Amino acid sequence: MSDGLEGVIAAETVLSEVDGQAGRLVIRGLSLDELAGNTTFEQAAHLLFDGFFEDLPQDLAPALGRARAEVFGEVSAMGDGLPALGPVEAMRALTARLPDGDDLATALRLLAAPAVFTTAVLRAKAGEQPVAPDPKLGHSADILRMLRGRSASSQEAAALDAYLVTVCDHGLNASTFAARVIASTRAGLTSAVLGGISALKGPLHGGAPGPVIEMLDAIGEPDNARVWIENALDHGERLMGFGHRIYRVRDPRADALKKAVRRMSEGSNVLPGRLAFAEAVEAAALAILKERKPDRSLDTNVEFYTALLLEALAFPPSAFTCVFAMGRVAGWLAHSREQLAGGRLIRPDSRYVGPEPRRAA
Ligand code: COA
Repeated sequence: MSDGLEGVIAAETVLSEVDGQAGRLVIRGLSLDELAGNTTFEQAAHLLFDGFFEDLPQDLAPALGRARAEVFGEVSAMGDGLPALGPVEAMRALTARLPDGDDLATALRLLAAPAVFTTAVLRAKAGEQPVAPDPKLGHSADILRMLRGRSASSQEAAALDAYLVTVCDHGLNASTFAARVIASTRAGLTSAVLGGISALKGPLHGGAPGPVIEMLDAIGEPDNARVWIENALDHGERLMGFGHRIYRVRDPRADALKKAVRRMSEGSNVLPGRLAFAEAVEAAALAILKERKPDRSLDTNVEFYTALLLEALAFPPSAFTCVFAMGRVAGWLAHSREQLAGGRLIRPDSRYVGPEPRRAA
């Protein structure tokens, strides 16, 4: 038995490889450095879906645009109750309205769903009408338009593409494993994606970037960083945005996202200062974690610069996990199809350590 299944290989995949010692992420034979910043989300999803759907079109963008328009029909079912839920719960509830299935049409609806539903939920929470998708736009440009009700700059759309591509797949992480387990029962892609969303929601997985903003706001200025961090660790808290189950060096996604933030900060009045502050907090956190946990290599993970990037794109911290789902859904779908193509029902064993039944006298 391995606690947390650490080190257990539970699937073979052609989709991605996470090399925790080298700090390297490979997606279908391409390194993250090659992909992030040079690829749209649609291209990355195509890369992941390739070979898993017979009818996959060469260009996924028009089909994904049509799928956004199709799922937007479900937004009218939001009613009075859903906006009262948290953004992940509300987005998940709308996604649960989609029919189950294993085909490309189902996959495209699910690829579109977190984007369309999250933006509609956020607008409803702010008392605003949802903005219908524009199927002709790229996915990232349309997400920002549906969020704000006005067009985004090409720089902003490129930054969101860089983010969605950076997080689109990452080995057998907890939400992808959950999706594969569900897919292995032949329940259907919608069920698998709902499982993925639910696993992603937890703060130890995809729920961390919101708390990163809380931490930065609580620290306030660089000079407060050391005292604040020491105090948090003294109280047994974990620093959000640091540490990883697999990476024993820096998470390569942290640098891909920092690069995207830096690119976006050209021409911004606010972002360079925010970035410099975050770098100061990061440096203090890394130094303190090294002092306190010399045997455990704790470094910056994907969530730290995710927080900065999504904040700069005007997503509220409460919805950061939803934006993570907009990207990772591509990986959940590809892994589910891979599981269906060759995998058996996933059904491990447990060791019983409870009391034995009492014998009849
Ligand atoms: N801050 C402070 N201490 C941390 C830490 C963090 N972010 N991450 C790990 N540690 C410490 C643990 O307290 C533990 O110390 P102990 O052995 O004295 O109890 C040790 O490092 C190992 O932790 P462990 O829980 O075994 O690591 P893990 O591999 O199971 O956990 C995470 C990985 C991601 C869950 C963990 O690093 C974490 O909680 N990070 C913060 C949340 C986060 O950023 N999540 C996003 C992940 S992409």
